[in-house]
Amino acid sequence: MAYNLLKGKKGIIFGALDEKSIAWKVAERAFEEGAVFTLSNTPTALRFGEINELAEKCNATVIPADATNLDDLTRVFTESMAVLGGKVDFILHSIGMSLNVRKKRVYNDLDYNYLNKTLDISSISFHKMLQVAFKLDAINSWGSVVALSYIAAQRTLYGYNDMADAKALLESIARSFGYIYGRERKIRINTISQSPTLTTAGSGVKGVGSLMDFTDRMSPLGNADADECADYCVTMFSDLTKKVTMQNLFHDGGFSSMGMSLKAMNIYDKNLEKKMQLD
Ligand SMILES: NC(=O)c1ccc[n+]([C@@H]2O[C@H](COP(=O)([O-])OP(=O)(O)OC[C@H]3O[C@@H](n4cnc5c(N)ncnc54)[C@H](O)[C@@H]3O)[C@@H](O)[C@H]2O)c1
Repeated sequence: MAYNLLKGKKGIIFGALDEKSIAWKVAERAFEEGAVFTLSNTPTALRFGEINELAEKCNATVIPADATNLDDLTRVFTESMAVLGGKVDFILHSIGMSLNVRKKRVYNDLDYNYLNKTLDISSISFHKMLQVAFKLDAINSWGSVVALSYIAAQRTLYGYNDMADAKALLESIARSFGYIYGRERKIRINTISQSPTLTTAGSGVKGVGSLMDFTDRMSPLGNADADECADYCVTMFSDLTKKVTMQNLFHDGGFSSMGMSLKAMNIYDKNLEKKMQLD
């Protein structure tokens, strides 16, 4: 159901690769809610992904950019303001990648060139985006910027590797820049910490099937899916959340507040029984 929450708002959505991407779902929801926006992703993602299909559906212009490159980011903001006819009201940073995860380098055997790339792509790109937008004065007052995070920023989850450090940095950038943007421009900056979700990036996480089953059993409301994450992002872009800033907002069905649930205990008990029979 649409509520016209983003009627008259302009935005930029970074990170839609294919229809599983969280950014893809956010674009669809933002369009339903009346927003106009541009889409951006890397030239490689544009070649291999399906973003043009999304662009057609949402009447959006696609602007290629490597989010670690300041010139590319400057072009995204300048062209977006030209295409959309003015400053933007919302930005989604939905970008993450770790070569250590891809190349199966474990946390106690990291390749440091890969680590630098992980941090540059997954976190520092957020700082770069915010700094470029600040200098260009590209965001309207009461605008809203959201980046997507994961609970591994605060708690250790087996297999999340150097992306945990990247997410911790991402959340810190949201707070540090959130202060400056709030103070000087009345613009809010937040991160949304999403449940594990089956997307291209999500599928790269070690043992993602077991992890998703575990978090689902542990969360009183169950895992939040990509469509539900899009709903939350749209709320954060709307005028209904004008005084929310510098926050890491958990969107995880309650997982982040749990220690043990009945559903998880039941599975654990079964395996414990089996184990004791074998001992
Ligand atoms: N899927 C999950 O389980 C989950 C959970 C919590 C948070 N997140 C976060 O959500 C965000 C979106 O991921 P997703 O799950 O939709 O997966 P996805 O693979 O669909 O999206 C990741 C995007 O990052 C883009 N990207 C990579 N390098 C880039 C660069 N240099 N410049 C610009 N874009 C680049 C990719 O092209 C891709 O579109 C990521 O920040 C991810 O960490 C995902």
